[in-house]
Amino acid sequence: MKLLHRLDRNLGCGVALAALLSAPAAWAQRADAAALNAVGRTATPAEVHAWNIDVRGDFKGLPKGSGSVDMGGKVWDGKCASCHGAFGESNSVFTPLVGGTSKKDIETGHVYFLSHSGYPHRTALMKVSRLSTLWDYINRAMPWTAPKSLTTDEVYGVLAYILNLGDIVPADFTLSDKNIAEVQKRLPNRNGHVFYKAMWEVRGKGDVKNPLCMKDCPVQGGIESALPDDSRNANGNIAEQVRPFGPARGTDTSLAPRTQKVGVVVPATVVAAAAPAVPALPAGPSAADAPAHALIQANACTSCHGVTNRIVGPAFQDVATKYAGRADVVAYLSDKIRSGGQGVWGAIPMPAQAQLKEADARAIAQWLAAGAK
Ligand code: HEC
Ligand code: HEC
Repeated sequence: MKLLHRLDRNLGCGVALAALLSAPAAWAQRADAAALNAVGRTATPAEVHAWNIDVRGDFKGLPKGSGSVDMGGKVWDGKCASCHGAFGESNSVFTPLVGGTSKKDIETGHVYFLSHSGYPHRTALMKVSRLSTLWDYINRAMPWTAPKSLTTDEVYGVLAYILNLGDIVPADFTLSDKNIAEVQKRLPNRNGHVFYKAMWEVRGKGDVKNPLCMKDCPVQGGIESALPDDSRNANGNIAEQVRPFGPARGTDTSLAPRTQKVGVVVPATVVAAAAPAVPALPAGPSAADAPAHALIQANACTSCHGVTNRIVGPAFQDVATKYAGRADVVAYLSDKIRSGGQGVWGAIPMPAQAQLKEADARAIAQWLAAGAK
């Protein structure tokens, strides 16, 4: 394995071409190969080891260790409860982790409420069919604000605590690499695992139909379902939370939904004749505010803050209102933006933004002080 190893072939060609625009083709090819060989170096075993943390369904990759429900409860209270609730039942930041499973489910390995109505959520313990997934996810991604900060034993402990909340293991249990396969046999949805062969079977039939077409070809797929109006903007404007380039853009959920349901498949001639009316985009930020808007997007602030609406953190305009008129507002805010903090707007912490340049933090703070338009 090489670090920064294979530049994408096209990119490699691009590099060579830029350097040797007028050279003969054979030359360019040789230079291309040489340029690729000069890129990167072989990764050291320690680097590979640091990346190679996945835990598989059969627990291959699981590190040795153990943690009790008791110890995990302390980790939970300190590092998880602020977002997931004291008993894993909160849905204020994310779908609840615990709830909706029963003794019967533990016996059958199928979760009743996944196929019957009567429980309002699909919690993590209802859905997960392999314990390795939970272990791996917590180990690599949680706590949300400080991923990979837990020790191996803490991951075992906090997972034991979650399993105890779901009555899957008793309160005096210690989860370890030795007994995790036994606990897997009690996971409520262990038999609910489905494998959609068509998605993975490359030599079989794929799961898409793409008929060959040379004339009057269908050009537009139909919208089969859409977000209900009342939840359109519930988590802030999706367009502001998704990168504004690349093939997948977020729809602007601050606008009224498109009322017209686009037909199933329409030939090009028909589409050209009756193009659906797309609502005009609202005017963007003014020239004075645009640099700050670019900074809050580029630094992913908008994944947690809307300009006009709360997401995980407060709306930027609410921050502006709160500190309007305060004499040291720019200094206070640029410092808070870089250091993060907790408790001013609620229990959810804001992670430190150490990557953010001081000048950029200051520019954002000045924009906030001017009203966050
Ligand atoms: C600052 C808020 C926050 C904290 C603290 C936090 N989480 Fe999370 N957690 C989230 C969010 C948000 C998600 C969903 C993330 C996503 O889908 O990308 C999540 C997802 C999860 C999931 C996956 C649930 C599922 O159904 O996919 C697990 C398990 C989990 N967290 C466990 C923990 C544990 C254990 C801790 C403490 C060590 C913790 N979390 C701390 C916010 C938090
Ligand atoms: C992971 C989510 C998250 C990200 C990313 C994030 N914030 Fe925050 N931010 C929060 C939360 C939560 C709070 C509320 C903290 C509190 O209650 O003290 C907050 C608070 C703030 C405050 C108010 C501080 C105060 O003392 O009143 C400002 C200003 C702020 N954030 C700016 C930013 C900027 C600028 C960025 C990007 C560089 C950013 N945030 C990125 C979650 C986030």
